[in-house]
Amino acid sequence: MTDMKQPAVRPARPFFSSGPCAKRPGWTPQALNGALLGRSHRSKPGKAKLKDAIERTRKLLGVPADYRIGIVPASDTGAVEMAFWSMLGARPVDLFAWESFSEDWVTDAVKQLKLKDARVFKAAYGELPDLTQYDPSHDAVFVWNGTTSGVRVPNGDWIPDSREGITICDATSAAFAMDLPWDKLDVTTFSWQKALGGEAAHGVLILSPRAVARLESYTPPWPMPKIFRMTKGGKIVEGIFEGETINTPSMLVVEDYLDALTWAEGLGGLKALRARADANLGVLAKWTKVCGWADFLAKDEATRSNTSVCLKITDPWFAGLGDDAKADVAKKIASILDKEGVALDIAGYRAAPPGLRIWCGATVDTADLEALTPWLDWAWSQVKAA
Ligand SMILES: Cc1ncc(COP(=O)(O)O)c(C=O)c1O
Repeated sequence: MTDMKQPAVRPARPFFSSGPCAKRPGWTPQALNGALLGRSHRSKPGKAKLKDAIERTRKLLGVPADYRIGIVPASDTGAVEMAFWSMLGARPVDLFAWESFSEDWVTDAVKQLKLKDARVFKAAYGELPDLTQYDPSHDAVFVWNGTTSGVRVPNGDWIPDSREGITICDATSAAFAMDLPWDKLDVTTFSWQKALGGEAAHGVLILSPRAVARLESYTPPWPMPKIFRMTKGGKIVEGIFEGETINTPSMLVVEDYLDALTWAEGLGGLKALRARADANLGVLAKWTKVCGWADFLAKDEATRSNTSVCLKITDPWFAGLGDDAKADVAKKIASILDKEGVALDIAGYRAAPPGLRIWCGATVDTADLEALTPWLDWAWSQVKAA
């Protein structure tokens, strides 16, 4: 192993970060040339751009015509917080957590909003909690894809159509790579910085008619900052969902999103995006079968993410190391590859078991993952020998 030669081929684009993720192939700053800069976002062309972003999102993701789509502040986190602060507390809530972001939402509901009737279902990294525990008379909160463990929910079959509660789904690392069953999702959120390789700062909040009914029928007992307010006089503010944003958006970021949508539409839409992510996952799946030292953190193949692929190290020598040494090995692999310029930002999430996390969303080229796997073996051999 120590004599392993450096691979000859380098990934053309070493961008495997799990957020912000790789820009689309061929992206240059020229893509932003048409941005409406130095103009009001409330001008006619400004509103038209925001509305265009909303309607093209609807088409690409197959969001039903009677669902509202809003562009909101503070990225995915902002969109989730808006939903939490505006809708939770009306009914008991079931929270499902299996990695860092889903745990953050538990903290918000239990420690910040101090919801009394909260049930928490947790699982360790690599696993899913028992989703069938969901009581359909309750609200539900979950992530579609656990970005920091690479474990996703396989489907929405566990959510009854006849539920009384609303479901709040953080889909930030799932949207544009996985099928989202809209009839099961009442609130869906994501940010542009993930699977389309857009920029952060703005979130997308998608509301089913049932979520709107909640907004219009329930007033939470706590104060509501302007940035979260979606109703006026007990009625939904429709403008938010037609491009009249609550506060000022970055039209540069909006332009970048429109460019990403154009790219995605040109590929053939969601099906094509998903196929690219699946092919990327396939490269790593094939490699884990033969590499002899790494495997998916996700235990069940049906839950393996096709975006944030998290890998654990399975080598017996590694298993015998202490926790700090394990973390050190994983960090070293990532840092050697970073130094070589072949893979940037692939260290596992800081709270996850030591390992690697490699983004496989559609903006990553399959050829680059194929070029990466020999480098993973090379870096591993270097670290183990040292
Ligand atoms: C599942 C999940 N939720 C929330 C976030 C936070 O997203 P943002 O920083 O866009 O608010 C992330 C970011 O990685 C995520 O993966």
